[in-house]
Amino acid sequence: MILLDGRKVASERNLQLKDKIAQAVAVHGREPGLAIIMIGDNPASLSYVKGKGKASALVGIKHELHQLPDTVTEDEVIALIEKLNQDPTVDGMILQLPIPDHLDDAKLIDLIAREKDADGFHVVNQGYLYQKKPTTKPATPKGIMTLLSAYDINPKGMNAVIVGRSNIVGFPIARLLMDAGATITICHRQTKDMAYHTKQADLLVVSAGRARLVGADMVKPGAIVVDVGVNRVDDKLVGDVDFEAVKEVASHLTPVPKGVGPMTINALLENTYELYMEHLVANKV
Ligand SMILES: NC(=O)c1ccc[n+]([C@@H]2O[C@H](COP(=O)([O-])OP(=O)(O)OC[C@H]3O[C@@H](n4cnc5c(N)ncnc54)[C@H](OP(=O)(O)O)[C@@H]3O)[C@@H](O)[C@H]2O)c1
Repeated sequence: MILLDGRKVASERNLQLKDKIAQAVAVHGREPGLAIIMIGDNPASLSYVKGKGKASALVGIKHELHQLPDTVTEDEVIALIEKLNQDPTVDGMILQLPIPDHLDDAKLIDLIAREKDADGFHVVNQGYLYQKKPTTKPATPKGIMTLLSAYDINPKGMNAVIVGRSNIVGFPIARLLMDAGATITICHRQTKDMAYHTKQADLLVVSAGRARLVGADMVKPGAIVVDVGVNRVDDKLVGDVDFEAVKEVASHLTPVPKGVGPMTINALLENTYELYMEHLVANKV
């Protein structure tokens, strides 16, 4: 079994990005800026946000964390988003999910200027994606495509099965894999006999948020398996795939952690850099 080592690929790409950013800063005199809005103090979100901040610093992206209390009102969050939309030093902005129930995540994300939507979650950017037009791609699906390509895996002609249909992972990875020439099946909680579908997969992507949902009996021998899930079990992080069992049947498999997670962060940084370059061109700096 070949381990799809997201940490290794992401750190190589981050070093390349660091060079590109240093070159752009030398010419244009301004660093790319990423603003992260976090609401509440969910420990998992805090650790993701810290990881994003650390990786930003490493590649030369100036990041700022706006941590708001979970009692914040919708108007206060909107005021912050509008302020950051106007700030010329902010190239990318993300709203760390999940946010408290009294706030509407889709409404708030759509208020982020689409030109600063570093996560690629804005409804207009998603529309462009689904119409196969150039746009900022959602970070996790983009990171998965980059990881596959780093291992010379070409999805063309493959049966790709995706477990999960979220707007941030399952649905957009289906679109990207279809664009890359795969034939797509999407499974979800209403799917009858999910194992029947997953066993057809040459490429299986699992993003359900259910610890060890996919066992070896659900995987075709030789399949490529990408595990997006991150679940805390007995104080340990585990994926949606039973790694120890599936490694015996899969040809390629991502670990959790250090698989898709670092690739997602790398894609976020690359998105921020691309938005920064667009802003430099637009402002002719
Ligand atoms: N590593 C990373 O960078 C990264 C990035 C994003 C997310 N994640 C992780 O990935 C996981 C999924 O995230 P998400 O945002 O895609 O999740 P989500 O919005 O909760 O969606 C989960 C999807 O999985 C489906 N599902 C849940 N249980 C299922 C089951 N037993 N059988 C079949 N389908 C099932 C749901 O079906 P229905 O639509 O029918 O409800 C839904 O479509 C989470 O653990 C999250 O923490 C990791």
